[in-house]
Amino acid sequence: MSKTALITGASAGIGRELAVLFAKDGHDVILVARRRDRLEALKEELEGAFDITAHVFTADLADQDAPTKLFEDVSGAGIEVDFLVNNAGFGSNGTFWELDPQREVDQIQVNVTALVHLTRLFLPAMVERKSGRVLNIASTAGFQAGPYMSTYYATKAFVISFSDGLSYELKNTGVAVTAHCPGATESEFAAVSGNDKSKLFQNGKVATAEDVALHAYKAMHKGKSVAVHGALNQFGAFMSRFSPRSMSNAVVASLNKT
Ligand SMILES: NC(=O)c1ccc[n+]([C@@H]2O[C@H](COP(=O)([O-])OP(=O)(O)OC[C@H]3O[C@@H](n4cnc5c(N)ncnc54)[C@H](OP(=O)(O)O)[C@@H]3O)[C@@H](O)[C@H]2O)c1
Repeated sequence: MSKTALITGASAGIGRELAVLFAKDGHDVILVARRRDRLEALKEELEGAFDITAHVFTADLADQDAPTKLFEDVSGAGIEVDFLVNNAGFGSNGTFWELDPQREVDQIQVNVTALVHLTRLFLPAMVERKSGRVLNIASTAGFQAGPYMSTYYATKAFVISFSDGLSYELKNTGVAVTAHCPGATESEFAAVSGNDKSKLFQNGKVATAEDVALHAYKAMHKGKSVAVHGALNQFGAFMSRFSPRSMSNAVVASLNKT
C-alpha cells in the first residue's frame, strides 16, 4: 500500500537518495529543504520515473518556527506522514571560539531542536495508527567527542541518545525509531561544513550517498534502534566505548584539523 515519507534535507546527498528509495517502493514523498529549485527538479524526476506524488515544502530549519509551520502545512494539505526522515544537517570545522556564533547555534537548531520538534509533532498520529517509522540521520561522530568539530559531534551524540531512548518507549506500539550513523560520505556535507580538506575526507574511506541511504532505509524498515554503516565504522563505534577519552580526542583532532 502506498504510504508517505517526509524527508528533510532532500535537496542533496543522503536525503536525496532516501527520497529516491521511498519513491522506488511506490511511496509518495514530501521533499523539504531550503533550495526550492533542487526540490522541484527532484519532484519532476521522481514523478516522471515512478507512479507517486512528490510534494515540495521549503523550510529553513534553523528558524525555530519552521517545524510547527511545516507540520501545520502538511496536516492542512490533508497528508498523513507514515515515515518521518530527519536528515537535514550540517557541521562546522575549526577552533570553536573562532567559528561564527550564529552558525554554531543554527547547527544545534537544525541537527537537534528541529529533529526533536518534528518527531514530537508527527509521532502521535503514528502511535495512534499503530504504524510508522522515524529515521534520524545521526553519525559515527556521535560516539565520541570531536575536537575542531565540537558542536557537530555533540549534536550527533544527542541524536543517538534521544533516538535510543525513544526506541525503548516505542516498544509494542507498531512504531519504531532508528538512529542511522554514517561515516564520511560523499555529498555536499564536507564542503558546506568546511572539512573537505581534513584527513578524514582526504585520506579516509568515503562511502557513496547511495550506499549509505540504502543501509539506512533497510535499518529503518527493520526497526533497528541504532545502525552504523560499514564494518570499519561499526568497529570504530564499538571500540570508542573502551578507548580513553584523551586518546580518542587526539585521534579525532588529527582527523578533523584542516
Ligand atoms: N556526508 C557525511 O560525511 C555525513 C556523515 C555522517 C552523517 N551525515 C549526516 O547526514 C545528513 C545528510 O547530510 P549529507 O551528507 O547528505 O549533506 P548535504 O549533501 O550537505 O545535504 C544536507 C541537506 O540538509 C539540508 N539542510 C541544511 N541546512 C538546512 C536548513 N537550515 N534547513 C533545511 N534544510 C537544511 C540541505 O538542503 P538546503 O541546503 O537546500 O536547505 C541538504 O538537503 C546530515 O544530518 C549529516 O550530518 C553526513
